[in-house]
Amino acid sequence: MPESGAQRRASWLEELEARPKAELHLHLRGAIPREFLSDRVRRYPPAQALESAPPNQLARLRRQPAIARILAASDPAEELDGLFRFDSLDQFLAAYFFTVFFVREIDDFRGLVIGLREHLLAQNITYAEVTVSIPEYLQQGLPLEGILEVLGEDPPARPKVRWIVDLVRNYGPDAAERLLERLLPLLPPTVAGLTLGGAEHLYPPQQFERVYALAREAGLGTTVHAGEALGPESVWHALDTLRVERIGHGVRAIEDPSLVSHLAEREIPLEICPTSNVRTGVYRSMEAHPVRELYEAGVPMSISTDDPTFFGISLAEELAGLRSLGFTTGEIDGLASGAFAFAFDAEAAA
Ligand code: HPA
Ligand code: ZN
Repeated sequence: MPESGAQRRASWLEELEARPKAELHLHLRGAIPREFLSDRVRRYPPAQALESAPPNQLARLRRQPAIARILAASDPAEELDGLFRFDSLDQFLAAYFFTVFFVREIDDFRGLVIGLREHLLAQNITYAEVTVSIPEYLQQGLPLEGILEVLGEDPPARPKVRWIVDLVRNYGPDAAERLLERLLPLLPPTVAGLTLGGAEHLYPPQQFERVYALAREAGLGTTVHAGEALGPESVWHALDTLRVERIGHGVRAIEDPSLVSHLAEREIPLEICPTSNVRTGVYRSMEAHPVRELYEAGVPMSISTDDPTFFGISLAEELAGLRSLGFTTGEIDGLASGAFAFAFDAEAAA
């Protein structure tokens, strides 16, 4: 019997799953294993865990219905599903931030890294650049030296992990600069780059010019979350003021044709995370996502999952989903293998 379309799609997804892949935009806590989180919310009762939050943060977190339900539950692990339902970037960021309160010891941090490696291995992701939001762990009282010791571990076996330090824009540009100055002399060779995550609309890229000048001087690869919550002007600032080598998301560049041409001509890769953009409400549906238009305009890109536990997606599924937007299997194969070329650490990726 000839293979049906559904069978062909299934076997192609299996093929995508099996082949060696690179992922360049993935947050460490965004890949937190569900069982690990369940275990930690039982170990550290949420109401107590949140006591370390400054009052304004606590109020913001409590306003999220999913978090309020977790705080009120007799078994908080039973209420975790709600944390993964959100319909705006702000709600997602609150849910994401909430999880840091359950990383209380260096051993918890190490547990995240072990979980990440298992996640990568299970998906045949052989090279990953993983974003780690350092100030959030420092706020939890974890010692910087301990964090850097864990990040510095570099097992010879695949997956190869290189870290992208996220200075988290919500702490403001001065704090970001002070932290980077403190970090630079201590960074292990496994740290390959710098980014800013968090609320782009409250802390746009241009505020961080000095931070990026420092990072560039120190030889770090540079990227920034831009063109996600804000439009093309934010991507222009990322390029002209911060002079980044890649853009995290960057998808709203589509709103300015001259920017799209610029990205294509200068060969600036976008780290595109389609499911993330739909789940956080940047686009109302996959059909409305501009990834195809950007691709046709010649903008270099890699495809990533951003926060796979929160968005419930694997890298292979993310790639396969591009079929519904008009990508051919050959084009998707090209995107999957092309990601290695945009790595900040070409040697580790090879
Ligand atoms: N945007 C900003 N900050 C983030 C994201 C994102 O998509 N994911 C994790 N932190
Ligand atoms: Zn991200």
